[in-house]
Amino acid sequence: MLNSLANHGYLPRTGQDIDAETLRNALQSNSFDPGAFSDIILLALSTSTTGNSSTFNLADTAKHNIIEHDGSLSRDDFFHGGNDLNLNPAIWGQVFSHFSNDTISIETAAKARLDRVANAKETNPEYSQPSGDTGSLAETAFYLMLFGDRVDGNARTEWVRIFFEQERFPFTEGYTKKEPVITIDEIEAMIGKISAVAE
Ligand SMILES: *[C@@H]1O[C@H](CO)[C@@H](O)[C@H](O)[C@H]1NC(C)=O
Ligand SMILES: *[C@@H]1O[C@H](CO)[C@@H](O)[C@H](O)[C@H]1NC(C)=O
Repeated sequence: MLNSLANHGYLPRTGQDIDAETLRNALQSNSFDPGAFSDIILLALSTSTTGNSSTFNLADTAKHNIIEHDGSLSRDDFFHGGNDLNLNPAIWGQVFSHFSNDTISIETAAKARLDRVANAKETNPEYSQPSGDTGSLAETAFYLMLFGDRVDGNARTEWVRIFFEQERFPFTEGYTKKEPVITIDEIEAMIGKISAVAE
């Protein structure tokens, strides 16, 4: 999502020297209440290598187990080489193989996530999540809410594919920003529904 925000110019396109206010404005401008991200913004700043503790580079967030987490839907685990900046086609392909319909229901998204996490656990002896499965659950909640209904999910498969594979928001394909912005309560409600789906 950060890459997509940068690719549209909500964040500096260079991905460099991002401060908290810039990130809050970027989120507010595209569908999210920045208040929901206060903790994540502090974590992002904690990865800073800019020499200014008030700013960070997008690449800094690759530091393991802070923002970056194992079991990502589109990135390989740190254990296997630690490239969380680029999509891993095999991993994303496995996740995407669950999305055989035009839309992705909460149940389908939850099962795709569980399958990915199970696979990561099997292949990564050091598998861990910085705060339980929250990062992974939030990732699924974000795409369901952005590209589907904020309450019921059913994200458009094509929009989700574009977001992950091309790191852009599918404006030209019809995506419109969520207004009012999505709040922390809504995100938590969606995470609850995703968690409730068993394998
Ligand atoms: C550090 O970054 C902040 C936020 O962009 C900026 O206001 C401040 O001037 C910077 N400090 C230095 C020493 O460059
Ligand atoms: C498939 O998508 C259609 C809408 O495109 C929806 O009505 C239907 O419930 C979906 N089926 C499943 C199994 O998700």
